[in-house]
Amino acid sequence: MSRKTEKGLSRLALVVGALMTVAYMTSGCASGGVTALPSGGMLAGRSETANDMDEGRKYFVMACADCHRRYTPGDRSPSAWRGILANHKGRVSLTSEQSGKLTGYVLRASEYLEGRKEGK
Ligand code: HEC
Repeated sequence: MSRKTEKGLSRLALVVGALMTVAYMTSGCASGGVTALPSGGMLAGRSETANDMDEGRKYFVMACADCHRRYTPGDRSPSAWRGILANHKGRVSLTSEQSGKLTGYVLRASEYLEGRKEGK
């Protein structure tokens, strides 16, 4: 390997390292806090069990931050989420049962967070 290539490579490594640091810092908990992603126990109600909610929450965490920052249910109203999630059908690789649970979680959590905002 020539000296010049070596120098080029270490420069590349520096740039890649810097980019990874930035990606790390801007991902994840930026809008975080525990209540940004309410747990199943907080959301369980007449028709939704804590287990179903927790499962939906898990799929949301798994599948929804590959392409952009992780939005949280409180970022949109339930009715806005319906459209967004419908548009996203082809984007996430979940079974229909899994995406049903994800949708259930996001809608319920969005409702819950909206209610808290108004009710406080
Ligand atoms: C394969 C890439 C990909 C994945 C995975 C993905 N998204 Fe997206 N998302 C996009 C793109 C591209 C846009 C911008 C275009 C659009 O709005 O449809 C977007 C936009 C959004 C928006 C903003 C839309 C608006 O109108 O305000 C939200 C909210 C969102 N995504 C939530 C999610 C959720 C929740 C999941 C998990 C179910 C998810 N995304 C998974 C690609 C993805």
